[in-house]
Amino acid sequence: MNDVRPESLKRIETSAQAKAYIENEVASIKKQVGNKKVLLALSGGVDSSVCAALLIKAIGKNLVCVHVNHGLLRKGESEQVISVFKEQLGATLIYVDAVDRFLDNLKGISDPEDKRKTIGKIFIDVFKEESQKLNDISFLGQGTIYPDILESKGVKAHHNVGGLPEELGFELVEPVKFLYKDEVRIVGKELGLPDSMVYRQPFPGPGLGVRCLGAITRDRLEALRESDYILRDEFKKANLEGKVWQYFTIVPDLKSTGITDGMRTFEWPVIIRAVNTRDAVSATVEEIPYEILFKIRDRILSEVKGVNRVLYDITNKPTATIEWE
Ligand code: XMP
Repeated sequence: MNDVRPESLKRIETSAQAKAYIENEVASIKKQVGNKKVLLALSGGVDSSVCAALLIKAIGKNLVCVHVNHGLLRKGESEQVISVFKEQLGATLIYVDAVDRFLDNLKGISDPEDKRKTIGKIFIDVFKEESQKLNDISFLGQGTIYPDILESKGVKAHHNVGGLPEELGFELVEPVKFLYKDEVRIVGKELGLPDSMVYRQPFPGPGLGVRCLGAITRDRLEALRESDYILRDEFKKANLEGKVWQYFTIVPDLKSTGITDGMRTFEWPVIIRAVNTRDAVSATVEEIPYEILFKIRDRILSEVKGVNRVLYDITNKPTATIEWE
């Protein structure tokens, strides 16, 4: 696989450059795919959404989107994917509820890379089954972007990059694989995708799975999903939504002592992370005003079950990575 960004591909910064990129990609997708069908995993993130929009432009109904609910999505996410792609963009979209299958298989797996691999493997299995049901699929579309390729060389086994799809017998179509995140957004905007999608923060393929640290349990996953929702809601209200590159919560598999209404508690902490970056290769912490942090803290402590402490991660990348696993 050729995985070095071609020198001829200049940085995309303007709408005209995005337009040229789109024209070029649409032509090369048409050339690669012809009249055959492409199956695409549509998570609803920026990368897969832009990839889907490019494929819809190139091959229309021959793109079959599959949205897998792996139980590791954010609150309201599946509903939004269905409403944007099925209702607004008219895409062919298959919804697969695989929540129990993922969570049952992940039970007891605590190593981050094993978790990623398990999630990746089940993902592939689910696709295999879906494609066999359709039985006329030749290609697998993927929203791989350049940092995924660079990082998978050393640090983390990003599940959307690697040899796994080859065993399916599908050829890959990766129309944004040499782009950095900011370039993907410009291309998405040029393709007419709504701002809420294009400027949405990135979300890793393994989703909340890499933020529910260690072995995932359903109750801790729920605490993570609810705290993430509160954080996003408060960022929106504070007008930080488009300003901060990535923000989320993490729930580690440890408990600490607390006190509520005079009673001892022994519960999880929620960790808040909010960082800015251009290309995800390095990142700096956002200086969130204490007033906003305190509001988020109060809501998490009163609305999320099983949590008695809230922390703010002040570590840049390096030395930390953006995600905790
Ligand atoms: P890190 O944690 O390596 O993250 O600093 C850099 C960016 O990549 C995202 N990320 C992932 N994306 N699959 C993905 O598709 C993954 O396994 C994965 N791990 C991290 C992370 O959210 C950040 O935007």
